Amino acid sequence: MELSVVVPTFNEAPNVAELVRRVHAAVSEAGIDTEIVFVDDSRDNTPDVIREVAKTAPLPVRMIHRDVPVGGLSGAVIEGLRSSDSTWQVVMDGDLQHRPETIPSLVAKGTVDGVDVVVASRHVAGGSSDGLSNGLRRFVSQVSIQVTKALFPKRLGGTTDPMSGFFAVRRESIDLEGLHPRGFKILLEILARQDLQIGEVPLVFEARLAGTSKADMKQGIALGRQLFDLKFGRISGFAAIGALGAVANLVILAGLQHFGVGYLAAACIAAIVTIIGNFLLQERFIFNDLKAGARGVWKRWWHTFAFNGTESAVRTFALWVIVETTHLPSVPVQAVLIVIGFTLRYLYQSRVVYKQHEQAPAEIVTLDEILDHEHAPTSPALAEEPAA
Ligand code: GDD
Ligand code: MN
Repeated sequence: MELSVVVPTFNEAPNVAELVRRVHAAVSEAGIDTEIVFVDDSRDNTPDVIREVAKTAPLPVRMIHRDVPVGGLSGAVIEGLRSSDSTWQVVMDGDLQHRPETIPSLVAKGTVDGVDVVVASRHVAGGSSDGLSNGLRRFVSQVSIQVTKALFPKRLGGTTDPMSGFFAVRRESIDLEGLHPRGFKILLEILARQDLQIGEVPLVFEARLAGTSKADMKQGIALGRQLFDLKFGRISGFAAIGALGAVANLVILAGLQHFGVGYLAAACIAAIVTIIGNFLLQERFIFNDLKAGARGVWKRWWHTFAFNGTESAVRTFALWVIVETTHLPSVPVQAVLIVIGFTLRYLYQSRVVYKQHEQAPAEIVTLDEILDHEHAPTSPALAEEPAA
């Protein structure tokens, strides 16, 4: 099959027949071999309606009905994408706010431009978001697009509408396993997790044909959490390992003192043990994907040892000054100092130790090579792609 149209549905019974009719009209005119896949989580009679429509539909119509809907709208979309191996897959809403007549231009754009994803955007010439129910929603939508793009300037550089629910993906380009299904913004999830080439066509966002929108405050909060996780996936893993190291540090510090070692000597031993442990864990779990493009492993180790060693020497000196002058207990003072040190270490690791090589320019450069070079993942911005 050339194309699967994946349609997530939640209580969309009155829209199904008209959607199928218009999708068929659009793709048959364009001569695209197409199936429709409904991924349905409805609590009403939508599944019956889909089955009924499928019987007489002039193109294949499949339904995945989920009794246990995992991951909401995004989970439904991922399940639909997974279920098909068509070359192209279009994701669209089931309420006809997305014009089926746009489908052929999505596929054509992707094929002609050779891109991985084509976004139907409300914010390019010819697009509009008049169908959003009110001015407040339009404003919220605009603000969240700007914030989101600012968080992922590189990955989302190619799109004006990362929140769109109407887009086409080239099946072979998308790593579905790497996606976290949650919330409403599956396109954002796809684009932020992978380096993909993006094209756009205009989207005229219509008013709903029938039924009501499922977007609410909860979706807004879900978007916030999704952005945080996409953005800070790496740093939160780093923090977890740092916390483990900090606990180990404090345990060693307290333990050695218990056996009569002075607190300064104990702090030195604790520092060396935790630097080694942190390095091994971060190599394995946090910066695994950046190792190939960074300096060699021994250089990474020495940079880490030098920086973290200096950091803990300075920290231990600060510990000494503070404990001697204020007579506060050493362990809580150390805990505060470790948090400060953590921030500095993350910046150094991500900016210096695992900094990616610049790519050497090719000697004879063809247009294709220039394009490839532009899209190659050179020095990614801080934590722009999260840890796996
Ligand atoms: N399977 C399934 N499960 N489908 C769902 C669920 C769910 O939990 N929640 C919503 N849907 C379906 C709806 O039935 C509809 O077909 C589509 O997902 C979009 O839901 P709407 O409730 O119509 O959302 P909207 O119109 O407010 O939001 C649209 O615009 C946003 C951009 O402003 C969607 O296209 C969003 O994806 C898009 O981000
Ligand atoms: Mn809608």
